[in-house]
Amino acid sequence: MPYDKMRAIVTRGHGGPKVLRTEEIERPKARGRKILIEVRAAGVNPVDWRIRRGELRPLSALAPRRVPGRDVAGVVVAVGDEVRGFEVGDRVFAMLDGISGGGYAEYAVVGEDAVALMPRNLSFEEAAAVPLAALTAAQAIRDALREVVRNAPHACDTGQLVRRKVLVNGASGGVGTFAVQFAKISGAEVTAVCSAANAGLVGELGAYHVIDYEEEDFARYEERYDVIFDVVGNRSFGACKGALRSAGVYVTTEPGPRNFLSQLATMPAHKKARIVLVKPSGEELSLLKQLFEVGRLRVILDSVYPLEEAAEAHAHGETGHARGKIVLRVDR
Ligand SMILES: NC(=O)c1ccc[n+]([C@@H]2O[C@H](COP(=O)([O-])OP(=O)(O)OC[C@H]3O[C@@H](n4cnc5c(N)ncnc54)[C@H](OP(=O)(O)O)[C@@H]3O)[C@@H](O)[C@H]2O)c1
Repeated sequence: MPYDKMRAIVTRGHGGPKVLRTEEIERPKARGRKILIEVRAAGVNPVDWRIRRGELRPLSALAPRRVPGRDVAGVVVAVGDEVRGFEVGDRVFAMLDGISGGGYAEYAVVGEDAVALMPRNLSFEEAAAVPLAALTAAQAIRDALREVVRNAPHACDTGQLVRRKVLVNGASGGVGTFAVQFAKISGAEVTAVCSAANAGLVGELGAYHVIDYEEEDFARYEERYDVIFDVVGNRSFGACKGALRSAGVYVTTEPGPRNFLSQLATMPAHKKARIVLVKPSGEELSLLKQLFEVGRLRVILDSVYPLEEAAEAHAHGETGHARGKIVLRVDR
């Protein structure tokens, strides 16, 4: 293949998994503060198939030809002349921005701010599973717990340690497996909602209680939580309000109009509704790197597909029952 070309998965319109085709396209270039990564593995996320289906048209309508993919792990092969923190040969992982995407390819270009050195104890496949899902979970749990403390500072004034209770709905998927671990690391008592088949997994990750969503409705449970993190996005703030403690926060991954309205309406209220919109951050990935290296965080890989089988990987993910993360491996 000519030096300036690469293999990539390309979509030229919306549709089913079959619109994901392997093509030979221009290799991107590293300029300014950008880094060129030789991609060894790329993470697969629900946002990839939501864009592919045309559900997020403002994002996907911008480019007639699109390379999906927000997560990559690989080796730095070139840096722009303003890059200071990385050099050729570094093993890195990164989260690409939502408009350009570009992860399902042999090479990807990323701004320096969204890149971090890879955890030394992870494979490329494991590292590619981390950025978008783990940053979503970390940012959602961190911000919600901060808000709980801000809403009820008196709970800390007594000098007694308050054990926070966090519930994660959708605990066995890409975001959920990280959310359970971050809630546990932050010292909370974690309740995980998933199917019975995944109860053992979420228990290993740190859940103290497990609710099987096929048997019980957590929103009608007698327990009250400081944070309800609805990763699946199938429960509204209204449905969860009764299950929140007095200064509790409901946070959802689903940025629909109903949730935006709830967020606005609860600004002055004690119980809050929040939407998490993940932001790329190399700095936060560096913190996660440390947690992996000291054994406080784990990656749960559902499956690894060759890059050319991106359509199969999407079809599998779209069942809605991945156990951890799906990843594409880039063979050379
Ligand atoms: N706003 C943002 O910034 C942002 C960022 C990341 C993700 N998201 C969104 O967050 C959602 C989840 O992402 P993800 O990567 O975690 O997805 P995922 O990996 O595909 O989630 C699959 C998991 O969902 C569980 N699940 C399915 N139905 C359930 C139910 N009714 N109750 C509880 N759990 C259920 C499944 O468990 P079982 O197999 O046990 O059923 C499976 O483990 C997606 O809609 C994604 O678009 C938004």
